[in-house]
Amino acid sequence: MKKSLSNKLDKISPSMTLAITSKANKLKREGKKVYSFGTGEPDFDTPKVIIDAANEAMEKGITRYTDVKGLIDLREAISQKYKNEFSLDYDPESEIIVSSGAKHSLFTALQALLSDGDEVIIPVPYWVSYSEMVKVAGGKPVFVYPKKENNFILTKEELEAVVTPKSKVIMLNNPSNPTGVVYTKEQLKEVANVCVKEGIYILSDEIYEMLLYNDKQFTPIASLSDEIKDITITINGASKSYAMTGWRIGYALANKEIVKAMNTIQGQCVSHPSSISQYATIKALKADQNIVYDMVKEYDKRRKYMLDFLMNIDGVEPINPDGAFYVFADVSAFYGKEYKGKQINGSIDFADALLSSKYVAVIPGIGFGADDFIRFSYATSMDDIKEGLKLFKEFINEIK
Ligand SMILES: Cc1ncc(COP(=O)(O)O)c(C=O)c1O
Repeated sequence: MKKSLSNKLDKISPSMTLAITSKANKLKREGKKVYSFGTGEPDFDTPKVIIDAANEAMEKGITRYTDVKGLIDLREAISQKYKNEFSLDYDPESEIIVSSGAKHSLFTALQALLSDGDEVIIPVPYWVSYSEMVKVAGGKPVFVYPKKENNFILTKEELEAVVTPKSKVIMLNNPSNPTGVVYTKEQLKEVANVCVKEGIYILSDEIYEMLLYNDKQFTPIASLSDEIKDITITINGASKSYAMTGWRIGYALANKEIVKAMNTIQGQCVSHPSSISQYATIKALKADQNIVYDMVKEYDKRRKYMLDFLMNIDGVEPINPDGAFYVFADVSAFYGKEYKGKQINGSIDFADALLSSKYVAVIPGIGFGADDFIRFSYATSMDDIKEGLKLFKEFINEIK
């Protein structure tokens, strides 16, 4: 008799974003032209200077194990970035750890912070993996629901209402995936002050920090005060800013105790990310940052086009994003109605019908805890955006 697999699997579900992508990929393999607003990854190639650095790494023999926390030159480059851009001091030896993507940094941080039954506060909507990562680490996700009218920005009162003696961590994502909303300094202060008072760690996922529009300023929550810095684990990485999703480089900045714990955990599993990717990321951080801003300019054109288009469809209510590369749109006005005789009862039905009929892929909001919404990514070509949105509008017009 075969024994069953781990009971951990009973608690967690597979990534919703990956599920829709695999369905879209299947249609592509069948020869269909799919307009994909699904995946959260830059459509740009990794800038040439970074590729050249990777080649150089291999030529120079940077192909061996590195320190578990990553190459010291990379940690120094990260430290320098935080000093130059945000006047934040992190010791490269003991307060920075590089992991295999920001997802892995978050995972390791949660493993280091949580004991069984610890509560983790997660504002909704949230990035799909947060709740599942918390459960794998033995924690209990506690959702808090900021108001749509307030652009889903968490207030002091909303946070205070869910704090219990078991609250251990809050997971913030700024700029947000899926909403694209960016917190102001004052809004962050409100949240951070509650965390200081209650002794709650702040796990701040700032992976989209360089992708900003509308002249929006970004504030790392750790920069608000030394006290706040001490309870904050900042997560960042190369994937989104430098179009390096496949290279798998993320990193965490935190106090010595936390970084030491993450180092112990990481050292017993993946050891460290690829030495070649690490070396290339040093170049990414030190290069002329127009390699990023050129992409941001392009995203901004697409963002404006998409937002304008969606705002002009009756019943579709997009949130105006200041960061990342997503538009999160409320489509609940169509729930309860029918598409080709089939009732749409939520974001999964909506996304499914759209993909099967028009070959347009979007992510159902339910994966982010917000079933009234669907998420569009504009990290895809302008031509595809124009054509895909035309088909989206056709789909909407056919809903009865
Ligand atoms: C909010 C957020 N955090 C983390 C990640 C993961 O980034 P990485 O590819 O570096 O693991 C993503 C990727 O979609 C994301 O949207």
